[in-house]
Amino acid sequence: MCGIVGITSSKEVTPRIISSLKKLEYRGYDSAGLATLSNGNINEVKCEGRVDALEKNIIQTKISGSIGIGHVRWATHGKPSSINAHPHSSEDVSVVHNGIIENSTILKKLLENKGYKFKSQTDTEVIVHLVTDYLKKNNLKNTIIKVLKKLHGSFALGIIFKDQPDLIVGARRGSPLAVGYGPNEHYLGSDSYALKSMTNKISYLNDGEFCILKKDQVEFFDADGTKVNKKILNLSKDDQNYEKGDYKYYMAKEIDEQPITLKNCVNEYIDKHNKEINIYNFPWKINEISSVILIGCGTAYHSCLVAKYWFEQNTSLDVRVDIASEFRYRKIKFKKDCLYVFVSQSGETADTFAALDLCKKNNVKTCAVVNVVESSIARDADLVLPIHCGPEVGVASTKAFLGQMLVLYLLCTKLSYEQKSINKKDYQKKIKDLLSLSKSAKNTLNIEDKIQTLGKDFANSKGSMFLGRGYSYPIALEGALKLKELAYVHAEGYPAGEMKHGPLALIEEGMPVVVIAPRDEHYKKTISNMQEVISRGAKVLLITNKSTDEIYSENIWEQIEVDAISDELIPFLTTIPLQKLAYYSALDKGYDIDKPRNLAKSVTVE
Ligand code: M6R
Repeated sequence: MCGIVGITSSKEVTPRIISSLKKLEYRGYDSAGLATLSNGNINEVKCEGRVDALEKNIIQTKISGSIGIGHVRWATHGKPSSINAHPHSSEDVSVVHNGIIENSTILKKLLENKGYKFKSQTDTEVIVHLVTDYLKKNNLKNTIIKVLKKLHGSFALGIIFKDQPDLIVGARRGSPLAVGYGPNEHYLGSDSYALKSMTNKISYLNDGEFCILKKDQVEFFDADGTKVNKKILNLSKDDQNYEKGDYKYYMAKEIDEQPITLKNCVNEYIDKHNKEINIYNFPWKINEISSVILIGCGTAYHSCLVAKYWFEQNTSLDVRVDIASEFRYRKIKFKKDCLYVFVSQSGETADTFAALDLCKKNNVKTCAVVNVVESSIARDADLVLPIHCGPEVGVASTKAFLGQMLVLYLLCTKLSYEQKSINKKDYQKKIKDLLSLSKSAKNTLNIEDKIQTLGKDFANSKGSMFLGRGYSYPIALEGALKLKELAYVHAEGYPAGEMKHGPLALIEEGMPVVVIAPRDEHYKKTISNMQEVISRGAKVLLITNKSTDEIYSENIWEQIEVDAISDELIPFLTTIPLQKLAYYSALDKGYDIDKPRNLAKSVTVE
């Protein structure tokens, strides 16, 4: 959360900082700011709102410089406002910060007692005054070492100094930070995505490290100031120009891309000729694993919940699912024969990363299912399984969810075959089914007209429920999450069989309810539950699959039928109408679909 960009160069940097900040807006978009050094002064422009507004201010104020730092904010301490926007500056230094300084209240008191005056309500401003204070008696490097030791919590920092006309300091603890290399200039970014338009040569700071960037030199140091050598990585340029094209929102494009992203991912893992799933560099023998724990947050967590059913059904492994923010503080008995799988689109989610870090400290087997292969989670896990979706820009996760499910399904199927829990015939049948998944996903996209109208009803309801059993229960949770985050309507996902244990009391005349009931082993039971809500006045949108069998239920409000594919793969299809439903509900309300209120794409704070 929050985005940082910094450039030290001999050329003008302001327009490039602005364009990188636009790329970083997915990390936070409640306020933005920029500071440059010119003529021996720090010039700062900040405003509430989007980078577009900042750009207008910059045109008016005409600030310029060949060194600068910029920031997009997702508020943690202090409401979104131009005063609380970053950078925060004294006469001598200017700071941009991602993360949370947990001891900021104590530090603020100490600094106020020394006479420092605070302008904002942020935790970040303590860093400004600490640096200013330490610089009085220390050189720059020792100042940074001492200041970082004073700070508790998580941070990625970019700092410029009035008296250092071509120098930026970057520092990292918890929040990611990357350095980019250009021709006679260097860059700092909270992720490589922000820097990709300027360079494909990147190094990442590890936790506790800091760096000093000049236009012609970069140095990295550990927390004690010892020099660290860094590898320079070459990033692929593929994702560089990911644009909306003719779509109004990235989310619409990302939903429609799903048949292609599924196909790409299947092609990466499946050897069609030998009918084989390839998981390259799998570092363990199959008999070294007897259980699996799947860990993630939000939508990624929902993909783990679906995968639990697959692992239970197809393998003899014990399988558990955990929310990363819970896992990291639980008193876990770590097991050497357990595979800990971390699922994250961004690969930067603070809770998921901390849970992985805990596993690493306990020396257990770790695997990352990620979209961003250069991310912190990917870099730290023993095994990385990319989901091959390409960039996902919309804050609401769509194609990454299908990609996460797909990779978990491939992992499960491979392990079940290796374990001999399924035979060769079943294994190859599953592979065959996977090869036609993309086509069925494409067929599912053709529901535009119907779903647009339904979106209105959901958008204008007081609240709604999403019900399912088996694999369809986590899909119900995911459908409800999408509606909440995009249309700001209360929605609850529930196991259909649990309704009569309480939530049935919520059903009233006209309440829209989604029932996900593919014709699997749970079908009849779910249809009975559907009937129970219909008889209490609910308007039911039934999502099922095509069949020649009639549906024995009356008064269904609307119905969407997806292709009839294997029961195990149905969640890939039933998800798509729910994504579209949330999209059209938000569109009806006129909300900013790619940047829903209060949220950010990459949640790098706790
Ligand atoms: O990048 P991650 O997959 O780790 O992100 C996890 C969640 O923050 C994310 O899935 C979130 O729930 C989405 N906004 C849901 O659409």
